[in-house]
Amino acid sequence: MRLQGDGVDLSILQRPRRIRRSENLRRLVRETRLHTEDLIWPLFVHAIDTDHPVESMPGVSRRSLDSLLAACEEAQQLGIPAVAIFPCIEGSLKNTKGTYAHKDSNILYRAVREIKKRFPELLVIADVALDPYTSHGHDGILSEDGDSVENDTTVEALCRLAVQEAAAGADIVAPSDMMDGRVGEIRRALDAAGFHETAIMSYAAKYSSAYYGPFRDAVGSQIGKDAISKATYQMDPANALEAISEVLLDVEQGADIVMVKPAGPYLDIIRSVRDAVTIPLAAYQVSGEYAQIHAAAKLGWLDYERTRDESLLAIKRAGADMILTYFAPEVAARLRN
Ligand code: PBG
Repeated sequence: MRLQGDGVDLSILQRPRRIRRSENLRRLVRETRLHTEDLIWPLFVHAIDTDHPVESMPGVSRRSLDSLLAACEEAQQLGIPAVAIFPCIEGSLKNTKGTYAHKDSNILYRAVREIKKRFPELLVIADVALDPYTSHGHDGILSEDGDSVENDTTVEALCRLAVQEAAAGADIVAPSDMMDGRVGEIRRALDAAGFHETAIMSYAAKYSSAYYGPFRDAVGSQIGKDAISKATYQMDPANALEAISEVLLDVEQGADIVMVKPAGPYLDIIRSVRDAVTIPLAAYQVSGEYAQIHAAAKLGWLDYERTRDESLLAIKRAGADMILTYFAPEVAARLRN
């Protein structure tokens, strides 16, 4: 058919807009959907009886144990399959080696035990890293001269930490430290201790990112200006191929799930990792991504809900099977309605 448009004869056969005409047409042809079962809710807990809001993360608090349990109940009711627990440790309990990480009565193990007792079905992911416990905020132990974060002694500590988390009942341990060889060593340590069923979600491609700022406020793990940079173990944001090498190493060493972090600024990495491996892929929409959306919405510059939903859909479209996001409960509530 020939159409008359402004006196110009048009003969356009391909009209992609035909299938965008109504919401039902758009629903019919939609390629990506976000589901509640894609969501993992990261939560902060401290050994204090009241909640302390994290200023740079609206709606997020360092929670008391009771409040953490209430959040877990909410997660369960909303159908969120998993929570990821991060402890915030009082400054006086931190030291250079992060030894408080191994204290069985610390808030992390107490929290994991309580959650599994009350909500046995809810999956608990425990972070394996020393940064909540070290006075310098690094994910590992420093060398004698203080010039670097020592790989192998850190890996030994991480193995102990992972076994203790498994013993407390964690379903999944998640090394977020980026030391070399830690996945294989943690797997061996878990198996040797009889925890064959405890899964490893490896922060496989974790970038040295400015987007972790608000999280470090929350956990109190800011790195001093003159200190060693986390860039000596986390990945260079300029590198993409290296992400594949990192992921393949972790798969080889026994990771059950691999992760790319941050998520939104690294959609290309999520896609290429998705195409490179067949095991499940997680992406972590980090604190700075969350803070950015809140800040712009507060200024009236972005529509909060639309931006939030689009940010998550984009991560899913890029290839993530699951997303750690501070938006988890509100998005799950929206998906339910
Ligand atoms: C450290 C850790 C970090 C995050 C999770 N685990 C920060 C860092 O590497 O300094 C960041 C998460 C976020 O920004 O939401 N083990």
